[in-house]
Amino acid sequence: MTPSEKSVAKPFLDFYTTHNIIPTHQDISDIESHVFRRNYLYRTLGLPPSLLKNKRALEFGPGTGDNAIATSMYGLDTYDFVDGNPSSVRELRRKLDLGLIKANTTKVAETNVYDYRDQVKYDLVIAEGIIPGQDRPKEFLNHIASFCTLGGIAVFTTTSYTSLLAEICRNVFRPAIVSEKKSFEQQVQIASNIFRDHLSTFSVSTRSIEDWVTDNILHNWLVSHSQVFSLVDALDTFGDRFQFYSSSPRFLVDYRWYKSVRRASPDFNGIVREQYHNFSALLLDYRVKQETIQRSQIDREWALRLEELCKQAFDIHLIICHDQNFNSLMNFIDTLHSISHILPAEMGETKSAITDYTHGIRKIARGEIDHQFGAFRSWWGRGQQYASFVREV
Ligand SMILES: C[S@@+](CC[C@H](N)C(=O)[O-])C[C@H]1O[C@@H](n2cnc3c(N)ncnc32)[C@H](O)[C@@H]1O
Repeated sequence: MTPSEKSVAKPFLDFYTTHNIIPTHQDISDIESHVFRRNYLYRTLGLPPSLLKNKRALEFGPGTGDNAIATSMYGLDTYDFVDGNPSSVRELRRKLDLGLIKANTTKVAETNVYDYRDQVKYDLVIAEGIIPGQDRPKEFLNHIASFCTLGGIAVFTTTSYTSLLAEICRNVFRPAIVSEKKSFEQQVQIASNIFRDHLSTFSVSTRSIEDWVTDNILHNWLVSHSQVFSLVDALDTFGDRFQFYSSSPRFLVDYRWYKSVRRASPDFNGIVREQYHNFSALLLDYRVKQETIQRSQIDREWALRLEELCKQAFDIHLIICHDQNFNSLMNFIDTLHSISHILPAEMGETKSAITDYTHGIRKIARGEIDHQFGAFRSWWGRGQQYASFVREV
């Protein structure tokens, strides 16, 4: 642990229970669009609705239950939930009582996931937006995956230093926003005013700005390296016990003719390891297209260098957020310049975003809080990726 790293006694839960909130509401006013998006996600993960009919599902950290509304439309037999935040559980129970979340049987356990015990096994185990951020993510994943039946599927989210970089840049605003002299509501207001323009660059908005800034800026959820949990970390955790099934976005390709694949050939986990680093540039900026990467001949070594530099930026961001001042800002900016320097010309939008950020953040540090951030506003990484794995033993 570096001097800047601190630990949170109970990641997520401490912040949510202190403020008595669950700031992860999805906009479900247009329920058909919500269900369409979730169906797309589940199909990408290899889970068409028919596969889940009459099956048993267990969801860890359902939050508001908005996503569970869509999952429950698949006609599950059993849909059980585990969440340790009373506000989440309240909201989930409300939706169950209203019949918005349906299954033949449902059960809600209000407890810390680490403490949850049951002999029951499930066809589908879901852990969305909850593993990265835990202090012991490997132990956490092993625990939740132990509830999968043989042949069952675990769906969860991962992050990487590269996918988090754009978010890390936004976290660096914290010393200008968070202060004991301001009430929590004032801080939400200040952050909303700053980031409204950034979020509006997305063509779709599924969360309120207030929820987003509360959950991502005021909630200092990344306080140590151990909380960054990547797809490769998931492979390391599972070994041969689970096999990679699919991901969203679907990065990987397997062109092999099935008859040519032998027992000694690389398995699905091996394919992920072989190909994962090719996709770093896609993780850095959601606007980057795969053709761009192919054209610019990015290789594994480049990807590892990028991940290393993003890790360095993460390190300095920990110091800034921990010390609550901008004394280390120049180190952070220097690292961003190094990142921009290695990006291929084809990633011009990302380079411009970094340039505008490094100008802007200096002004923020000087107290010019209403500075506009130009091209930086529309730079977002693929913060979290979804993965599905099948239990083998
Ligand atoms: C970031 S929210 C994600 C909510 C929802 N899955 C989504 O993706 O929108 C994390 C949820 O997991 C719960 N949670 C986090 N850590 C937990 C733990 N150790 N034990 C129980 N619940 C936890 C929180 O209370 C919250 O409801």
